[in-house]
Amino acid sequence: MALTGFVLVLSFLFTFSVFSQTVISYDRPPARGTISLMNDQDSISPQQVHISVVGQDKMRITWITEDETPATVDYGTTQGSNEFSATGTTSSYRYLVYKSGQIHDVVIGPLKPNTVYFYRCGSDSQRQFSFKTPPAGFPIKFAVVGDLGQTEWTNSTLQHIAASNYDMLLLPGDLSYADLIQPRWDSFGRIVEPLASQRPWMVTQGNHEIEKIPLLHSDSFTSYNARWRMPFEESGSDSNLYYSFEVAGVHVIMLGSYTDFESDSAQYMWLQADLAKIDRNRTPWIVVLIHAPWYNSNTAHQGEYESEDMKKVMEELLYGARVDIVFAGHVHAYERFTNVYDGKVDGCGPVHITIGDGGNREGLASKYIDPKPEISLFREASFGHGQFEVVNASHATWEWHRNDDDQSIMADTVWLKSHSSNPACKM
Ligand SMILES: *[C@@H]1O[C@H](CO)[C@@H](O)[C@H](O)[C@H]1NC(C)=O
Ligand SMILES: *[C@@H]1O[C@H](CO)[C@@H](O)[C@H](O)[C@H]1NC(C)=O
Ligand SMILES: [Fe+2]
Repeated sequence: MALTGFVLVLSFLFTFSVFSQTVISYDRPPARGTISLMNDQDSISPQQVHISVVGQDKMRITWITEDETPATVDYGTTQGSNEFSATGTTSSYRYLVYKSGQIHDVVIGPLKPNTVYFYRCGSDSQRQFSFKTPPAGFPIKFAVVGDLGQTEWTNSTLQHIAASNYDMLLLPGDLSYADLIQPRWDSFGRIVEPLASQRPWMVTQGNHEIEKIPLLHSDSFTSYNARWRMPFEESGSDSNLYYSFEVAGVHVIMLGSYTDFESDSAQYMWLQADLAKIDRNRTPWIVVLIHAPWYNSNTAHQGEYESEDMKKVMEELLYGARVDIVFAGHVHAYERFTNVYDGKVDGCGPVHITIGDGGNREGLASKYIDPKPEISLFREASFGHGQFEVVNASHATWEWHRNDDDQSIMADTVWLKSHSSNPACKM
């Protein structure tokens, strides 16, 4: 009895301290060091394995080897199985004096939903990987994280995401923070492999992916496009920098903040056509990812062309289509707005969320504009990640998990309702 009482008091104290830490005061952690992972594989062993969905029932397997090896994937639903095999393509790129490894890209399927598959890459039989396909319908849980980088904070964020039982990861840009140093892309690939080889990682690019150098390297997004090929053709896009896909009743649109978005641009016309094709019975939810936020009350990144002009040009399209949520990165902090359109509260406008707090080496953006605008409901500069769980056609939960030292603490949560379930938002 005495022991039970003691445990009760202890657990009360513990709960209270967690509570007070979360809500009342929180000491923001300082930046942590950069990490990098060297290659510890043979020259034909798969490295940097990551997967991404292609259409409703296929998966792209992307991996890199130092030396040439066939672009084949053996896969099946049992350990060590060779039930199925598929062949794809291999490419590489040059960047100044750097020459990439062999980048292999194989699309496998058709696959069953919500099913674990085992797979092996190329002629290496040692490393066996596995992934789970997303569910065919609700519920589905997305992990959402921007500006990920590769620091000890990134590592902490990734561990929290790994424990979240998510189905798919959405990343609104700024991946590796390689910042022209190409081996850092390889290191990033190795750091994310344990997660990105197990669940589809669907990404769009940020400013750190541009990597153009006047006179020396005139192409943009060379490394990003070579390493993180996304299913753009399948959505009628002509560019890896913007595309859409559907998963379990959610239409996800990935936009490119750093490629032409003006009203006569290919991206704009593609977006218009893509929105027109959405069937709200099939996909009651619409989610959009951009890098540079359209709504932001942090002092960082105010007044940038990619934020202000893209909003000016495209906000009406998203509003007209009744987009439910817009996720952005770029600002290294967390901020959640209410449903907005044209700067004002609007029940049929999207909720805007900045989730640029993955853990990159530039650190946090901790100064805010005062007073807080009414449309901003929660803002905090801490590292963390988000979890967006779509429960059914009308309801979803959003949670922001902050990295409290190495603990994942849910610091903000809200129920969201889809516009398609709201008669007042009928088009
Ligand atoms: C990430 O963190 C885990 C647990 O603290 C540690 O074992 C691992 O070595 C870290 N990884 C890197 C690349 O620092
Ligand atoms: C959707 O989920 C919410 C929250 O759990 C629930 O209240 C609602 O009844 C569900 N709607 C349907 C149609 O099942
Ligand atoms: Fe960034």
